[in-house]
Amino acid sequence: MSLSLVRPARILLLGPPGSGKGTQTARLLDRFGMPAISSGDLLRKHIADKTAIGTQATDIMKAGGLLPDSIMTNIIYTELRARSWLSSAFSFLLDGFPRTLPQAQLLDSNILIPHHATLNFVVKLDVPHEIILDRIANRLVHVPSGRVYNLTYNPPKVPGKDDVTGEPLTRRPDDNPAVFRKRLVEYDSHTEPILEYYSSRTDSNKQSIVWTVAGESSDIIFPQLEQEIIRRFGVSEALVSAASA
Ligand code: AP5
Ligand code: MG
Repeated sequence: MSLSLVRPARILLLGPPGSGKGTQTARLLDRFGMPAISSGDLLRKHIADKTAIGTQATDIMKAGGLLPDSIMTNIIYTELRARSWLSSAFSFLLDGFPRTLPQAQLLDSNILIPHHATLNFVVKLDVPHEIILDRIANRLVHVPSGRVYNLTYNPPKVPGKDDVTGEPLTRRPDDNPAVFRKRLVEYDSHTEPILEYYSSRTDSNKQSIVWTVAGESSDIIFPQLEQEIIRRFGVSEALVSAASA
């Protein structure tokens, strides 16, 4: 069943490519009904829709590079403005944005501060590189929804088809070992400054908003993440006892 948070959680998921951000996002949506935006999913939709941004993104993503900060911030701003939950009253989750220090600064100054909705929980997923290299070889995605499958870990019910729509699944063009290594390097070089940017911030309980969780599997990480969210933001008593019954 879905749990209702007492205090709104505005979460950023940080983690290397293949660390399970999309997988955790889907589970958090299921558990807490928390809406999410994934920058990678948005870009893949632009590519599928053949927009001008999609044309620019195709080659950059295939090569494992990053899109310019100003373009990314505009895409996210457009997307966030269209959602009713951009306010201090709602929980939401960001996957893949911000991923550079300028993006984090622009997100605050242009979008979140004016809406009194700055992030209050930044989660860093630590998964060993050798584990994730193995995973992406088996990954399939449903582009319209962003749903992620793995041929061994969570295979689709019907081979090659999305469980919900029955539409075909595809492999991502940036999921090959050479490009994947480049994406890991990009991640490593941009993440420390972002963590530093957020690490001095504290929540209403005076604890840092940055929290790291390590594990070799999303099944090990998810229960820890779920408990930490419940600890920080609280859930309705009735719902907790119903869930643990
Ligand atoms: P994006 O789509 O954000 O890719 P990423 O950050 O590289 O992360 P991934 O989506 O590859 O991995 P994930 O952590 O979501 O893992 P998943 O849950 O799928 O970005 C793509 C590109 O877009 C970037 O390279 C860049 O070019 C551009 N871009 C995006 N945002 C940008 C920005 N802000 N600025 C500039 N450019 C930007 O899991 C991986 C696999 O593991 C799946 O197959 C899953 O089923 C499987 N799995 C999960 N858990 C387990 C488990 N326990 N055991 C086995 N397999 C598992
Ligand atoms: Mg993803």
